[in-house]
Amino acid sequence: MSRNDRIEIARVSGALGAEVTGVDLSQPLDPETVQLLRAAWMEHQVLFYPEQKLSDANLERFTSYFGPFGKEPFVDGISTDHPNVLAVIKEADEKRKANFGGNWHSDWSFQDAPPAGTFLYALQVPPYGGDTMWANQYLAYEMLSPGLQRLLDDMEAMHSAKRPYGRQGIYADKSQARSMKIRTGIEAEEEIAHPVVRVHPETGRKALYVNQVYTIRFKDMTSAESAPLLDYLFAHATRPEFICRNRWRQGTLTMWDNRCTQHYAVNDYDGFRRELHRTTCAGDAPAGPHQQQRPVAAQ
Ligand code: SIN
Repeated sequence: MSRNDRIEIARVSGALGAEVTGVDLSQPLDPETVQLLRAAWMEHQVLFYPEQKLSDANLERFTSYFGPFGKEPFVDGISTDHPNVLAVIKEADEKRKANFGGNWHSDWSFQDAPPAGTFLYALQVPPYGGDTMWANQYLAYEMLSPGLQRLLDDMEAMHSAKRPYGRQGIYADKSQARSMKIRTGIEAEEEIAHPVVRVHPETGRKALYVNQVYTIRFKDMTSAESAPLLDYLFAHATRPEFICRNRWRQGTLTMWDNRCTQHYAVNDYDGFRRELHRTTCAGDAPAGPHQQQRPVAAQ
């Protein structure tokens, strides 16, 4: 029996997501196993590995199998030894406060080359609540009418970190998400254009690529002009039939593909502490259906 014969992959919803068992991520993996996991990731978009016992170094090693680390803006790493590991924390006494990731988004979509993947490992979870949801953006695109697909195929939208991280952003109020090492400032107010429909560089499939945290308007349009169609797309992109939901257990590692999913950390656990450690791997500059894929930008 080869090492990979023990790996089982089971879907968790009709839309996306699969649970992977039979692999110990605290140990180095051989190339064949990494290839198997990458193929499963491309198929299911989100993978859940329950009952892992990982150090930060283990988390970094596993992340590195999928590419160089992504660049983490606005949130500092846990230590100089582990600058690529972020602690996602909400303390028990942070009641009625914003949580990190508590609205639909694709990670750091305001970057020139946003991270391809995010890895999130649960150290401490509430007894109930604090789930995370993911939405399949291939399905979101495929379920639009052909007319709207054609229109969106040629459009670009502006992304910015200003709503959460700008000078007037949510986190500029230091009482919000105060347990996180978050920085805010003028540099969060830059805007960058990305295609509204993104061609996945590995699968070649088209995915809707707008999200309500970072997408602020369509290119060459005002916010007011953009709002009706953007609001429609935000609501459409997160329809229940496009979603899976993870009830975290201590020891679960989740990895997701930011190029074809959005996610939402549900803030329904006031009074309980939640801590997860997070890494990202670098991605490409998003390319639309009529654009050449551009190489990963130096980050
Ligand atoms: C995030 O958006 O990376 C945080 C997700 C979570 O805490 O569940």
